[in-house]
Amino acid sequence: SELAVGIHDLSFRTTSFVLHHSELARHNGTDVAKYHKGLGQRSMSVPAADEDIVTMAAAAALPLVRRHGPDRIRTVVLATESSVDQSKAAGIYVHSLLGLPPHIRVVEVKQACYGATAALQFAAGLVHQDPTQHVLVIASDVSRYDLDSPGEATQGAAAAAMLVSADPALLELSGPSGLYTADVMDFWRPNYRATALVDGKKSVTAYLDAVENTWRDYRQRGGLPLEEFRSVCYHQPYTRLAFKAHRALLEACGARADEETLHHALAPTTGYNEVVGNSYTASLYLALTAALENCRDLEGRTVGLFSYGSGSVAEFIAAQVRPGYRSHLRADEHQEAVNTRQAVDCETYRALHRHALPTDGRSYELPHQTRGPFRLAALRDHQRIYEAA
Ligand code: CAA
Repeated sequence: SELAVGIHDLSFRTTSFVLHHSELARHNGTDVAKYHKGLGQRSMSVPAADEDIVTMAAAAALPLVRRHGPDRIRTVVLATESSVDQSKAAGIYVHSLLGLPPHIRVVEVKQACYGATAALQFAAGLVHQDPTQHVLVIASDVSRYDLDSPGEATQGAAAAAMLVSADPALLELSGPSGLYTADVMDFWRPNYRATALVDGKKSVTAYLDAVENTWRDYRQRGGLPLEEFRSVCYHQPYTRLAFKAHRALLEACGARADEETLHHALAPTTGYNEVVGNSYTASLYLALTAALENCRDLEGRTVGLFSYGSGSVAEFIAAQVRPGYRSHLRADEHQEAVNTRQAVDCETYRALHRHALPTDGRSYELPHQTRGPFRLAALRDHQRIYEAA
């Protein structure tokens, strides 16, 4: 009579603007095939001036609160590596925008792109402690590298919100975790910088090392063999990396890594990330959303989740898809969030990229650009003022 704990509902939202890689290629003279085929990316979400991790997080969580009500939520955990404050948890603004009850704990979690998986484990532990409660886990990030750097083509932004509960409608988290931590400077962002620093080649090697090492730990702790997994959802800084990762895993298991096997396992997982770009903490959960929506045959099947956060911490976990999960999905909303973004040209994107909020405490009003339900309206006395849009 083990308690089933896992993801009861899952929703994501992204920004109002999108930059197509064809436009980036036109601007910088790169062969667009490098982006489309080499990286597996078609476009990337670009935040409007009045959008940030808080507005995306609240927009992603709103449908969950509407469907399930706020009353059972006792904890909000927001994972991000593009935080807006060094002290206050961004989730408190989200709590306020969503009108959640006061008898709730709200915290922020950070370890690069891995943070949301730590948040999910924290949430599962809380639900085991009191199975009547819901925990709202939100992953929200804006990925920003320097203009004209190699990382530029792997930017993006999104927030994924998950309700964690007992007897979940979508997925049960089950079995051991495979874990791996290695102190490596592959990607980081010092407090004084708005854009990340990255050693691209080192980051790819560190990621692939972590895939093999988490898998080894997962198996040593009694985890399922790879044949049991219908699909593996990887953290996807760019979607081609998931294919490299799965190939490495298959080869490590002595299995055939032909194109058909890779396509069957991974093609259902990449649809959102190839048009949204890297959303750091949310990326894995956009891959999971895509897998749930695209594979028709998942009832009772197992999917793997591989979470990687530079620096680095990684985890591999298995999730069992629950019977009847399809009627709880939100595919139409997600398609709409992605398809209604407004395309911008490179000039507009570069101006938005350069746009910096004042740091001297003077009052500053943001232009109303977002099409989402919440916006960052102003800065006053060093405070961020959010409002319903
Ligand atoms: N047609 C088809 N393919 C082409 C091509 C063309 N005309 N030109 C190049 N390619 C291929 C290359 O062969 C290469 O493929 P392989 O990886 O299979 O060799 C691919 O396109 C990329 O080309 P380069 O390696 O030359 O690209 P780059 O030097 O511009 O760097 C990058 C790519 C390292 C990913 C860079 O975009 C970057 O630094 N991004 C940020 C870091 C990142 O995302 N790291 C991922 C792991 S870290 C992580 O997971 C945490 C996180 O979220 C950041």
